[in-house]
Amino acid sequence: MRAKASVESLKPYVAPLEGRRGHLRLDFNENTLGPSPRVVDAIRALPPEAYATYPEYDVLTARFAAHFGVRADQVGVFNGADAALRAVFDAFGEAGTRFVTTSPTFGYYRPCAEIAAMSVVGVPYEADFGFPWRGIEEALNAGAQLCILCNPNNPTSTLVPSADLLALADRFPETLFVIDEIYESYTGVSVLPQAADRSNVVALRSLSKSCGIAALRIGFACGCAEVVDRLNRVTGPYDVNQFAVVAANAVLDDWSYVDDYATQVEQAKRWTLAALDELGVRYYSGGGNYLLVWPGRDVATVEAALRTMGVLVRSMHGKPMLDGTFRLSIGTLPQMQRFIDCFAQVLKDDG
Ligand SMILES: Cc1ncc(COP(=O)(O)O)c(C=O)c1O
Repeated sequence: MRAKASVESLKPYVAPLEGRRGHLRLDFNENTLGPSPRVVDAIRALPPEAYATYPEYDVLTARFAAHFGVRADQVGVFNGADAALRAVFDAFGEAGTRFVTTSPTFGYYRPCAEIAAMSVVGVPYEADFGFPWRGIEEALNAGAQLCILCNPNNPTSTLVPSADLLALADRFPETLFVIDEIYESYTGVSVLPQAADRSNVVALRSLSKSCGIAALRIGFACGCAEVVDRLNRVTGPYDVNQFAVVAANAVLDDWSYVDDYATQVEQAKRWTLAALDELGVRYYSGGGNYLLVWPGRDVATVEAALRTMGVLVRSMHGKPMLDGTFRLSIGTLPQMQRFIDCFAQVLKDDG
C-alpha cells in the first residue's frame, strides 16, 4: 500500500530518545529533576474509576485560561504542544499554500507542513543568530497561509520581544501566526494574553519542559475562540489522557515549584556561561534553558565522550548554521558543575 504522496516522500522528524534514563539529561531541554512531588502524589492517589473513565477537561481548561489571562474558550488542550502543531496544520495548512518559518528551528514544523503538502519557506537566521526580520517580512509579502515563529527559538535560543511579533502579525492579517513559546517560564516573554484578542495569532504552551511532565504529554494552544474551535474540530474528543489532566492540575496547585526551578536554572546558566568563558569555549546564549556550544573539535566525538561519562548533550553535527555545535540544556547548579567537570576532561583528553 502506498500512503499519500506527501507521506511517501516525507523525511520524518526522528529524535534520539532511547536509552536516556539514568544519565544527566542535558539533551532535550527537559526539567532535570522531575515535577513537583504533588504531581506524583496526585497520580498515586487516583482510584480505579479514574482509569476506567474517559477524561474530563473543563476544570483544567478554566484553570489554565485564568493562568494565561484568557477566557476558557480561548484555550485548547492537546497531547503536548506537538499535537497542537498537528492540529494547526490539519485545520489551517491548505495544500499548495506557503508555510513560513525561520531556519534552523524546531524540527517538527517542517514534516507537519510537508504532510499537509504546503510549500516550506525557511528563512535563515542572521549569521550572529539575530532574528531575520527582513527575510521574514519578504517571505510574508510573497503570501503565506501560516507562519510559525519559535520564541525563544529552539535550538538557537534567539529571543525577540513579544510586541514585535504581535506588530508583525498585525501587518499580515491574512496569515495565521503561531508563536511557539513553550520555554516561556525561562523568559517571561509572551504574546499572551494579547494573542487572544487577535484573529490571526495563536500561542503554544507546554508542561513538558519547566513543569517536568514531558512523559505525560500535555500542552495548550491559546488564541481567539474561533481559531481554537477549528483546532478542536480536528482533534479527537479524548486525545489527552486523564493522568496528564490530573498532573496538570497538580502542577498548577504548586506553581511556585516551577518558578523555583526556573530560578535555579537561571542561576546555573549564569554560572555555566562563566565556566565556559574560563575554558575559552565559544557559545551562543539567548533565552531559554539551553544554549549552543562550539567545542572546537569534532562534535560527534565530544558528544560520545560525554555520554560515556553519563552526560547527554545534543549534537548539531551537519546541520546548516549549527554544524560543529552541540545544544546544552541547563539543569541545576550541581548538575552543571558535573557537566563542566566532564567537558573540561574531554577537552583535555582531546587536547
Ligand atoms: C520549540 C518546541 N516546540 C514544541 C515542542 C514539543 O513540546 P511537547 O512536549 O509539549 O509536545 C518542543 C520539544 O522539544 C520544542 O522544543
